[in-house]
Amino acid sequence: MKLHMVDLQGQYRALKAEIDTALQEVLDSAYFIKGPVVTAFEQEMAAHLKGLFALGVGNGTDALQLAFMAAGLQPGDEVITSAFTFIATAEAAALIGAVPVFVDIDPRTFNLDPSKIEAAITPRTKAIVPVHLFGQAADMDPILDIAARHGLRVIEDTAQAIGATYKGQTVGYLGDIGTVSFFPSKNLGAYGDGGMVLTNDEALYEGMKMVANHGSRKKYYNEVVGINSRLDALQAAVLRVKLRHLDAFTAARRKAADRYDALFAEHDAITTPYRDPDCHHVFHQYTIRINPDVPGGREALQAHLKAQQIPHAIYYPVPLHQLPVFATMPGARHGDMTETERACAEVLSLPMHTELSLEQQQYIAEALIDFVEERNSIAT
Ligand SMILES: Cc1ncc(COP(=O)(O)O)c(C=O)c1O
Repeated sequence: MKLHMVDLQGQYRALKAEIDTALQEVLDSAYFIKGPVVTAFEQEMAAHLKGLFALGVGNGTDALQLAFMAAGLQPGDEVITSAFTFIATAEAAALIGAVPVFVDIDPRTFNLDPSKIEAAITPRTKAIVPVHLFGQAADMDPILDIAARHGLRVIEDTAQAIGATYKGQTVGYLGDIGTVSFFPSKNLGAYGDGGMVLTNDEALYEGMKMVANHGSRKKYYNEVVGINSRLDALQAAVLRVKLRHLDAFTAARRKAADRYDALFAEHDAITTPYRDPDCHHVFHQYTIRINPDVPGGREALQAHLKAQQIPHAIYYPVPLHQLPVFATMPGARHGDMTETERACAEVLSLPMHTELSLEQQQYIAEALIDFVEERNSIAT
């Protein structure tokens, strides 16, 4: 059985006619940078996510950097975030001289634990950056409340959670700015790099637009040091097609997650993803925890899956505070990170995509369950 972590070819086959037409239109127009297709996509995204402003940018890492720059972060300012995320979240802050301060996660959701944020705030703290990891929103109400009481910006890293909701509201527009990645494997993926910043604040939108355009509002009249970051029209054309299918994609992912949940239901050594009742999880990843007491642990399981050609991944094997880049960065700090470190040691992500079939999932689940049961019977 041929399995994929993400089946981009299968998804393209299903949308081929629509995507080919949209790409051909851009090629015929020769309007490759900015232009009507990009503008239309920006408007459609804002409308779909029920927000006011959306700006297409080069990728999700640029989106974070633009958000931090527009929020006025200065060298030495502190940004509170999770260490259980992709490097880009903290890297983009560090790139402009800000200092990441890592706070532990809630072990159920893998997202920032709001009860631990206040202890990490200092006079230099300027922003909190919750990451809606694996497609489930962070617990935003307490985060927004802490931010309001301390005068901090909230920048949501929405790279993995496009279309997810928290208490019925779409993530990305809950804080001051939301940042999006259209990396091909994301729930809404381009055919190359792409990203977006979201905001309901017109001044922040104008600020990000200026910074993303070499720091200029008017051509050749640059006001600040900016960057060059834009979504190109070919990517926007692909994304416009896929946006029309996003709700169906999400439904397919949620259905696949339900099927995995049912397949693993009787097996205590495998912890299936927690579903926060306040959140509509969009399952960018289906990430389980493997009980570390299973003999041989996760490594032996990975070898077993590899032998059966079952793709899987560890997101993330090393917490950011232990990476050389941040472990040695002056000023970067962290409190007790027990849950983050435990998650890094226990998680395993399984194939999750819009084309996943019940038959494929049964095969994957059987391999996992066989391993766990066989190991447990050896141990007893
Ligand atoms: C949580 C998170 N933040 C930021 C990014 C960066 O996005 P990009 O790869 O588009 O720069 C990613 C994507 O990989 C991500 O998963």
